[in-house]
Amino acid sequence: MIIDSNAFSKDRILSVLKATEELNTLKDVDAILDQILFESRKIANADAGSIFLIKDNQLTFSYVHNDTLFSADKTNADLYMDFTIPIDTSSIVGYVASSGQALHIEHAYQIDPTKPYQFNPAYDKKSGYHTQSIYTLPLKDFDGLVVGVMQLINARTEQGAVIPFSNADQMLVPLFAGNASIAIERGKMNRELILRMVKMAELKDPTETGSHVQRVAGYTVEIYTRLAHNRGIDIKKIRKNKDLIRLASMLHDVGKVGITDLILKKPGKLTDEEYDIMKWHTVYGAQLFLHTTSRLDQMARDIALNHHERWGGGGYPGKIEEIQSRTVQIGASKSGEEIPLEARITALADVYDALSSKRSYKDPWPEEKILKIIEQDTGTHFDPEVSKAFFEIHDVILAIRQKYKNTEELDQEERIK
Ligand code: C2E
Ligand code: SIN
Ligand code: SIN
Ligand code: SIN
Ligand code: FE
Ligand code: FE
Repeated sequence: MIIDSNAFSKDRILSVLKATEELNTLKDVDAILDQILFESRKIANADAGSIFLIKDNQLTFSYVHNDTLFSADKTNADLYMDFTIPIDTSSIVGYVASSGQALHIEHAYQIDPTKPYQFNPAYDKKSGYHTQSIYTLPLKDFDGLVVGVMQLINARTEQGAVIPFSNADQMLVPLFAGNASIAIERGKMNRELILRMVKMAELKDPTETGSHVQRVAGYTVEIYTRLAHNRGIDIKKIRKNKDLIRLASMLHDVGKVGITDLILKKPGKLTDEEYDIMKWHTVYGAQLFLHTTSRLDQMARDIALNHHERWGGGGYPGKIEEIQSRTVQIGASKSGEEIPLEARITALADVYDALSSKRSYKDPWPEEKILKIIEQDTGTHFDPEVSKAFFEIHDVILAIRQKYKNTEELDQEERIK
């Protein structure tokens, strides 16, 4: 084996270690997958890549980057593609998952026909992309069990010409990916923990399902990402915030656990008195995150408390002196930038999801009608900057909605992908 000594320079190894350290600061599984792919592609200078995680004995498509087709830091609907591949030797990713061994292919379209696996050209055909070199490796947990597969596509020279993956790439990427699997497990645990909290609320309010909160979180993250890009915010900061916003926005309605079933499950329209009681779910939610100081708790508190405030004023619960006191004094409603940005985004995401879903008190609305309402209520209910970002990524919104379709018969933990 010929090893290019420059490939193992101290700098390259240090950069792998540094990447691992960064991974340990991320909490949510999506942010962790994003970072793993980003760092692995950087190590090998790969143009594209994807990650599949094992779920119910199948490889579930979970993340994709492609510099040629779309920027990794921008929103794109392909992230929400929803498909699985069987764990058998007929596909490349299946072969790697079955064997537990990495596989390097120099030419996707020239695989020896005696091999059990062949390249599936479906995505190339659909997107116009040209896959050439492929490096596929298993992601393993502490016990050596395969939890997923990462596929890097089209290694490039500095000038951008596509080349095979070097021997150095094939040693450094697994070095990094070894730690990555542990981060993935941690991220899945965090997500499950939060969904379990949501499930408590769901026992009381059947509309707060795992798929509802994952949709609201998906909309919120993608609107935030576009808005932050529009503002020219630093990409590193956007990544960190995305991670927190996804988890925190899932918890926007956990305060509903404090509301009586008689109101939550009422089949018809609420009376004014009942609606006044309902409004307390914002305060109850914020109280759950009161005594901690982590950024995640702070953001969860901001979103729970403020997601029913309105940009133009008139929302609830309004300015509150001391949310920990039993006799909360509700004051004048907040408006504009008094409402934290994350709450302004969750507000739009929540209403979009409420209107596009069936509720005990209403049927889903047609998309056109929803978009019209959002447009009409921009400036009064919704922050114009948030609405603008929402309309700019409407295709992504629809892809998220499709991925997390309401599937009441499915336990929400089944939807973690
Ligand atoms: P939700 O069902 O998740 O609705 C979230 C928000 O979406 C609502 O906040 C409201 O801003 C918007 N929204 C939902 N349905 C409609 C609608 O038919 N028309 C319009 N224009 N907007 C809609 P809101 O009003 O503060 O309600 C908070 C929560 O209170 C709701 O969460 C739901 O759990 C409950 N709720 C509100 N109204 C009723 C009702 O008439 N009957 C019952 N059973 N529950 C209600
Ligand atoms: C894919 O469909 O992108 C993966 C196919 C393969 O690895 O064979
Ligand atoms: C209500 O007054 O019952 C809530 C109306 C709404 O759904 O916005
Ligand atoms: C922020 O970016 O979080 C503060 C500014 C704003 O609320 O728009
Ligand atoms: Fe709410
Ligand atoms: Fe909600």
